[in-house]
Amino acid sequence: MGQQSSEQAVSSNKAGRPTLTLRRPDDWHTHLRSGDMLKAVAPYTARQFARAIVMPNLVPPVTTIAAAEEYRSQILAALPSDADFTPLMTCYLTDSISAEEVEKGHHKGAFTAAKLYPANATTNSSHGVTDIRRIYPVLEVMQRSGMPLLVHGEVTDHEVDIFDREAVFIERILVGLLKDFPELKLVFEHITTAEAAVFVTESGPNVAATITPHHLTFNRNAIFKGGIRPHFYCLPVAKREKHRLALRKAATSGLAKFFLGTDTAPHEARDKETACGCAGLFNAPYAMESYAAVFEEESALDQLEMFASVAGPTFYGLPLNEERITLEPVETVVPDHIAIPSGKLVPFHAGETLKWRFKAGSSAA
Ligand code: NCD
Ligand code: ZN
Repeated sequence: MGQQSSEQAVSSNKAGRPTLTLRRPDDWHTHLRSGDMLKAVAPYTARQFARAIVMPNLVPPVTTIAAAEEYRSQILAALPSDADFTPLMTCYLTDSISAEEVEKGHHKGAFTAAKLYPANATTNSSHGVTDIRRIYPVLEVMQRSGMPLLVHGEVTDHEVDIFDREAVFIERILVGLLKDFPELKLVFEHITTAEAAVFVTESGPNVAATITPHHLTFNRNAIFKGGIRPHFYCLPVAKREKHRLALRKAATSGLAKFFLGTDTAPHEARDKETACGCAGLFNAPYAMESYAAVFEEESALDQLEMFASVAGPTFYGLPLNEERITLEPVETVVPDHIAIPSGKLVPFHAGETLKWRFKAGSSAA
């Protein structure tokens, strides 16, 4: 994969911090949910991003062309009429899914990609794949047609320590999978470990990874700081500091195999603040501000456009967005919570002051 140069524009304010103008970014991993929650959360993703890969882990999961088309209409209906946003739909792979449905869906544009959840790895994954060999006929078709496989890369074996499940997945599943399907386009989703960053870097150009803002921002200590902190709990769970540092290095490297995927995964506050709280962070409202803070801390603001707006579409074989957005070096206060009709959501960075402000821009440069 060639590295495309970015044309990111930079101008400085009085304090010397730049205003950034970037191609409008895309989010290559989102959970937009359904029903009233969809209506409450989708506008946040559509405000910052031109396109988003929409995860299919609804109840029931999105396993057919008809379900993906219906879900796409629901997403569009949940947005303001002037929203400029394209949902890219995915198909949830099960043990029994037919290769024909997946292939036909990809040809029709109903499925941009297919998602592999190992059964019971995370939220709504009970219909996931119990043995990778069961979907080999589907993978055959996907390899042939260049359809990306999006992988939740954790083993589900409870004997394996939760903090090791991603690294063990590489050894037990991923290495063999890519040996059997060497040309398969594969995105290792929301990577959390140095092992995953190395694996992706050393694999061929058909292997890429998404990285979330939260895994770049905090390590596993945040989940236990002064008590148990459910709003920092997600899957894959945050790891040690050395892994966070490896992810920051990968994201800011300028390598076109690492790109933006927020994994925004909203759950109502009451479903997280409970004896068995749900996994997932709601980071859509301030996603670009959060990534910009990381890139600034790493003195790599010049690589933000590659990560957010160039590497993803290049990997997916889609055109780059022509519109531009602006990130101003202005403080933004993140509210403690966001009220929705049925309760409230606690956004990532709740109560913090971020150093950037996102501004949508409409004109192409
Ligand atoms: C996601 C969700 O809630 O749907 N949760 C999460 O912690 N990221 C599922 C997932 O992507 O694992
Ligand atoms: Zn996810």
